Amino acid sequence: MKVFIGYISLSGNTEKMAVIIKDRLAAAGCKVEMERLDRLETDTLKDYDLVFIGSYTWNKDELPYEAIEFYEELGQADVYGVKVACFGSDDLSYTNAYTAIDMLLKKMKDHGSNVYGETLKIHQKTTTYNQIKRCEDFADQVLMWSTKRKKWRLFLRSRALNILHYAKPASL
Ligand SMILES: Cc1cc2nc3c(=O)[nH]c(=O)nc-3n(C[C@H](O)[C@H](O)[C@H](O)COP(=O)(O)O)c2cc1C
Repeated sequence: MKVFIGYISLSGNTEKMAVIIKDRLAAAGCKVEMERLDRLETDTLKDYDLVFIGSYTWNKDELPYEAIEFYEELGQADVYGVKVACFGSDDLSYTNAYTAIDMLLKKMKDHGSNVYGETLKIHQKTTTYNQIKRCEDFADQVLMWSTKRKKWRLFLRSRALNILHYAKPASL
């Protein structure tokens, strides 16, 4: 399974989450690539079986400056059907009514991406056992979600092919 993790991080908190998710997925046998969002060709997201997008929040619940180009490109790029989950570090002492990752998730959903319903938000730095475990559990759950859907599709497809096979007249 080919996974991409795109992230933006100023002081390293979101990057640390990205690295924990990456290590967890790699240990589960995934081929994982990781890159900053401001170095990403948005159209390449289609090439992956699963995508994680991570960002911190900035300036009273706004997108960080380095994520703006990516956010705008999502309006033109073909991200239809891309399976995506979002995570990031915030400061929960802000109101956090709507964070950068909520904005990114909504934009991808609006453009047809297949988004994982829950986001992973951690206050500042990921240091405690519980915070690390939350990142690992998130990686596991998203991976399970994405493969379940694939297996279900394969099952339906094989069933349809079987039905066609049995319906075929013996004379043909
Ligand atoms: C100037 C400034 C503005 C910030 N604005 C917000 C904000 O509006 N909402 C929020 O949740 N966090 C805000 N934060 C906190 C960062 O999102 C938080 O420190 C995060 O852990 C940084 O992640 P990073 O280390 O990946 O850059 C702000 C931080 C700074 C320095």
